[in-house]
Amino acid sequence: MYSLKSLHTFGFNNHARNLLILDENFNDLCQLEQPYWILGQGSNCVFLEDFDGTIVKIESDGKQLTELEHEYQLTVSAGENWHQLVCFCMENGLYGLENLALIPGTVGAAPIQNIGAYGVELNRFIESVEFIDIRSLQKRRFSQLECKFGYRDSVFKRDMQGQFIITKVVLRIPKLWVPIAFYGELQRLKEPTALDIFNKVIQIRSAKLPDPRQIGNAGSFFKNPLVSKKHYAALQCEWHDIPCYEVDQTSVKVPSAWLIDKLGFKGQKEGGIQCHPTQALVLTNDGTGTGSQLLTLARKIQHQVEATFSIKLENEVRLVGSKGMIEL
Ligand code: FAD
Ligand code: EPU
Repeated sequence: MYSLKSLHTFGFNNHARNLLILDENFNDLCQLEQPYWILGQGSNCVFLEDFDGTIVKIESDGKQLTELEHEYQLTVSAGENWHQLVCFCMENGLYGLENLALIPGTVGAAPIQNIGAYGVELNRFIESVEFIDIRSLQKRRFSQLECKFGYRDSVFKRDMQGQFIITKVVLRIPKLWVPIAFYGELQRLKEPTALDIFNKVIQIRSAKLPDPRQIGNAGSFFKNPLVSKKHYAALQCEWHDIPCYEVDQTSVKVPSAWLIDKLGFKGQKEGGIQCHPTQALVLTNDGTGTGSQLLTLARKIQHQVEATFSIKLENEVRLVGSKGMIEL
């Protein structure tokens, strides 16, 4: 049995039957049997109980930088750390990824939920994603369009769930840099450089989000829901200060943190699990929590949000049971 405690940032002390570490040699995959769970750095997965199968941990490393006329092409192995890659770009004058600083996890996992923060989503920089089809062991490559990116979403998270291993991500970083500083506190920066944005994002994140090295968590537990403008207008009649972000002509995104906060969950505990006191969207584990306590609190939040606002919150994190992914 292998402990999963240090393999996922929520830190539950559950175990897996087998552990397969993959660096550059993907040949071992031909012996892979069900059930298995592909893992990067475990910052978006929560192992609720013992996993009755094989954890396939991706640890491949290496990157290759090519300078083209108007852009840089950066090909990065899946096991590289995302934040270290952002730092590498800053140090070498490749600007654009600064808003995505300090997001935990691997490069290989980043396109799966199309990581995003402070007004930027990864898909803007993706040229292609290389992967191995686990059933045929064939290498394949999807263009940006084929990845079907959306908000915290891609083809990898839906139709292809569990059938592939991302091996490399190819980024395209334009030489012409344009600052993106409309989100929240970034607006206060005057004519910011990329480094100013990088430093500010790190400062904001460090102040608001709990550090998984100190207290177990997996970032935002729920996604921010899309709500029709009609529904939003109805909610506004009762909740005058309900915030939203414009999405398109018919819908807006409402911050889940606000809904959860409004219901008074902030700081509430269920055993060792807590709704974080400075960010209501984050659930934490003080080291004594259990999977069932987490499910109890998450379901309580989900039910109360639905009963009050008629909005069904969907979990962002992947919840893993003994045989694989489970629904909230
Ligand atoms: P894991 O948790 O290991 O895996 C995530 C999913 O991808 C799983 O389904 C897994 O099976 C699959 N997977 C992983 N690697 C591969 C691979 N090579 N091939 C195939 N499948 C794979 N996310 C944001 O978008 N924005 C944020 O601002 C943000 N902030 C966060 C803050 C904190 C404190 C934490 C803990 C998390 C945050 N997250 C955020 C979520 C998380 O960082 C991202 O989802 C990240 O991309 C997960 O990377 P990982 O390597 O840890 O993935
Ligand atoms: N708010 C509250 N109470 C709180 C926290 C926030 O009412 O306790 C309200 C405020 O109105 C605030 C709004 O919610 O303006 C938005 O809060 P914040 O800027 O902290 O962002 P978020 O919507 O909670 C999202 C992402 C984060 C990402 C930040 C910054 C999702 C699910 N989460 O959080 O991503 O870092 O924006 O862009 O989209 C993650 O995915 O794990 C993650 C941390």
